[in-house]
Amino acid sequence: MPDRFLWGVATSAFQLEGSPNADWTAWDERLRSKPNVTNHYSLYKKDLKFLKELGVNAYRFSLEWSRIQPEEDQWDTEAVRHYQDIVDILHGEGIEPMLTLHHFTHPRWFLEKYPWHEDRSVKKFLVYVEKVVSTLRGVRYWITINEPYVLLLGGYLDGCMPPGLREPASAVKALKNMLLCHGEAYDILHSLNQGAEVGVAHNMAAIAPCRFWHPLDRALSRIAMFFYNHSLIDAFLNGTLRVRFPFKKAIEMEIPVKGKVDFMGVNYYTRIHLRFNPFRKMGVELRHQDEDGHGLTDTGWEVHPTGLERVLRYASKLKVPIIITENGIATRDDQKKIKFIKAHVDALERCLENGIDVRGYFYWSLIDHYEWLRGFDTRFGLYTVDFTTFERKRTSAATYYSYLINKNLKS
Ligand code: FCB
Repeated sequence: MPDRFLWGVATSAFQLEGSPNADWTAWDERLRSKPNVTNHYSLYKKDLKFLKELGVNAYRFSLEWSRIQPEEDQWDTEAVRHYQDIVDILHGEGIEPMLTLHHFTHPRWFLEKYPWHEDRSVKKFLVYVEKVVSTLRGVRYWITINEPYVLLLGGYLDGCMPPGLREPASAVKALKNMLLCHGEAYDILHSLNQGAEVGVAHNMAAIAPCRFWHPLDRALSRIAMFFYNHSLIDAFLNGTLRVRFPFKKAIEMEIPVKGKVDFMGVNYYTRIHLRFNPFRKMGVELRHQDEDGHGLTDTGWEVHPTGLERVLRYASKLKVPIIITENGIATRDDQKKIKFIKAHVDALERCLENGIDVRGYFYWSLIDHYEWLRGFDTRFGLYTVDFTTFERKRTSAATYYSYLINKNLKS
């Protein structure tokens, strides 16, 4: 492992804390009965002790924008102080903070008045960025936006996430605006924070045709691979974003983001099989098949560790360090969780042996949490949470992960 390799765990604020002013709170009625989610907003000091127990040297977490700016003209300084406290506690323990500015959720006013497909969104987001970057102290690693393409697919194509649209034309506008925000936020961060390392967290999936012999399954896989995995990386490489949906003409846009990533964050979970189905939107049917015999996870996803090598190889085209900003499994079976971690860290080691410049690995997630489309049933945590009593319990996967980290940090 390279020196100063970041061994961490990742979380997002909303999934642990909830927030009364977030778009998702109104969106998902399951949150009505559990608005505090894991009660992490109150219990954060206890939860942060788990980091020490695990022995991680880095922690990725996010700001809940709707707590910081609950109304368009209202800033909650207490909320900013809360996140500053987390940063300070981490430094006290020798743990490197990695901070995400935007992880899926928005203040309700933003989504209502300035949704991403409106150009006015850019300025509003940057006001928030400028405010927090000029206030918070002690953060070197920043992620501007978590998984822009997931937000896009969920919020603008499938409609399963706020704002719940199914409009490819709006999706393209939203993507353009999010990337413009990334580029501007990159500049703001560098002008206000000497030595900042700025990236995005890009969800990359292994993608394969359902029926290898079927030309349309293969064509769909190629298009999806290009759009979902590659187009963002290519935009950072050459400043041109090429968007192509199945059976539609490709769209090309100049976006000033060329070179504007100091590291590439990759979130990797699974492989997706694609099948042409004329009765589905854009003719695409997604499937998860257990081809490697590792079993599916509780989210129904295939466990496919070698896919990590493939996506990292593509990400390495950018020639900037790569950080695996999320990788994890939803399961109540600790042995399965341990095997998942081992298999993916083995894959990461093979990447390093092959000269791919990976600088960190963050397991998703520290504790169980609210999962966007699935509510409270999925168990990604190294520590379990009882969502009624808020009791936390260490899993044997936590013990395994800390053994692994220890072994690597010492060698
Ligand atoms: C990723 C999200 C993260 C979490 C995991 C399971 O796509 O970034 O918030 O929900 O999936």
